[in-house]
Amino acid sequence: PVNQSTLTALGRLIDHNLREQAAPCYASTSKTDFHRPTWHISPPQGLLNDPNGFIYFQGHYHLFYQWYPFACEHKDKFWVHLISPDGVQWHSAPLGLTPSDWYDSHGVFSGHAMVINDALWLYYTGNTRIGPERLRQTTQCVARSTDGIHFEKLGPVIDAPPAGVTEHIRDPKVIYDGEHYRMLLGAQREDKIGRLAQYSSIDGLHWRYDGLSGDSFGDHGYMWECPDLFPLNDQWLCILCPQGSTAPTPDHHVPHHNGYAKATLEADGIKLDDWQILDHGFDFYAPQTAQTPDNKRMLIAWMGLPDEVDQPSQSAGWLHQLTCPRELRWENGQIYQRPATALQRLRGPQQLLVIRTESDATSVDLGTKQFELSTSLPIPKSGQYTLYFHSRSGIASHATSTEPSGCALIIDGNNRTLTLDRSTSLATAGDTRRCIHLPEQLEELPLQVLADTSSLEFFISNGQWTMTSRYFSATDATFLAVTRDHHDVPLPKEIDWYA
Ligand code: FRU
Repeated sequence: PVNQSTLTALGRLIDHNLREQAAPCYASTSKTDFHRPTWHISPPQGLLNDPNGFIYFQGHYHLFYQWYPFACEHKDKFWVHLISPDGVQWHSAPLGLTPSDWYDSHGVFSGHAMVINDALWLYYTGNTRIGPERLRQTTQCVARSTDGIHFEKLGPVIDAPPAGVTEHIRDPKVIYDGEHYRMLLGAQREDKIGRLAQYSSIDGLHWRYDGLSGDSFGDHGYMWECPDLFPLNDQWLCILCPQGSTAPTPDHHVPHHNGYAKATLEADGIKLDDWQILDHGFDFYAPQTAQTPDNKRMLIAWMGLPDEVDQPSQSAGWLHQLTCPRELRWENGQIYQRPATALQRLRGPQQLLVIRTESDATSVDLGTKQFELSTSLPIPKSGQYTLYFHSRSGIASHATSTEPSGCALIIDGNNRTLTLDRSTSLATAGDTRRCIHLPEQLEELPLQVLADTSSLEFFISNGQWTMTSRYFSATDATFLAVTRDHHDVPLPKEIDWYA
């Protein structure tokens, strides 16, 4: 029999070796790849997925992400650690956690951070695969740090799934309700229905199982991943990622969804109601929020989806990125998302672009694929027009019949829809169309866009809707093009932009 201290010593040795092995990957940022974002967080090499442990601690933001260093594959995950003074400009800290112990040998899976007794606690899922059948075995674990840099693993605090739940139970989120710590976990019932598992604790170490929540949603997918729970104004909200839930539109073919519910914290558990989509684009998953020092809520998500490992950046040895930090507000019974104000520090001076409204097809070379842009989109009474981002070639003023390339944003007055079409992206994985229905009374849509080489984040109507998409294009796809199907269709007249 192997005793506990032998296992701990072995874990330290493996941790040391894994850090040594990962160190060259950590440094080898393939910056030269032309799809690489300039300021969004992307992995130096290998695969990035969920943001983890996002928190403000001792004067700095801390953010971790899921990382497999050695290939663009979902294998044994590490936690990369980044630190920032403002949530926007990040620098690398030493690797956070490695898959070095008997309880997390096949992945230090996702989780959240919490400050308890002035220390930074990381709650995460320990993933292991046992025997030749590679049977999944899951524990919920803690690592602790007093300086926010060096973490000591304390091992599993929950060592098996509760009765009636499969080994698909993960991604702990912990809050303090004034009396107890409460933990929420994404979970799957034995009948393959997604739910949240709830635990409570007095000290953050000893946990009592309090049952499942989410029955009010019935069958809402086979697994719920990555819950977050936080108040906005006085409303508690629960974000989660249900897999296999009913597709919200016929354009949704991938099973991985995102959204949130209103949550009520009751003595006997958390009640959920009123499901809403959080981001209406293509690449948005596993978001995490942090409370800022001035009491706001900042959100960062994985700009990618599970399964979609077939992307152009893979040939340069890196895959996926995170979204920009977004400030959340609770307005008119829904979450609004706006780019964090500190992002403005990254941009150059304001420039003005005037659209030539006498033409039905026009384009301008911005000379860059990294920009912020804002305008007001008129909603036509009839007919439609299209804005093309990262468009490859300009349109000659006479060439109204040529369809330009680019990520298309279509404003359709007949159907009162706003559609994002990325079918011309160089990526082959994933869906290509997303559509929002516009309320009847609306005449204008304020639009803000953040473009960073291979990504586009659309903030529509002051963040009432967001659409997040990666869009891979050629190096010379620096044009913004506009077309309309009829001369009477109104176009946005002026566009402010910043390189
Ligand atoms: C979501 C997820 C989590 C899991 C992690 C593993 O993308 O599947 O549920 O903890 O990724 O990397």
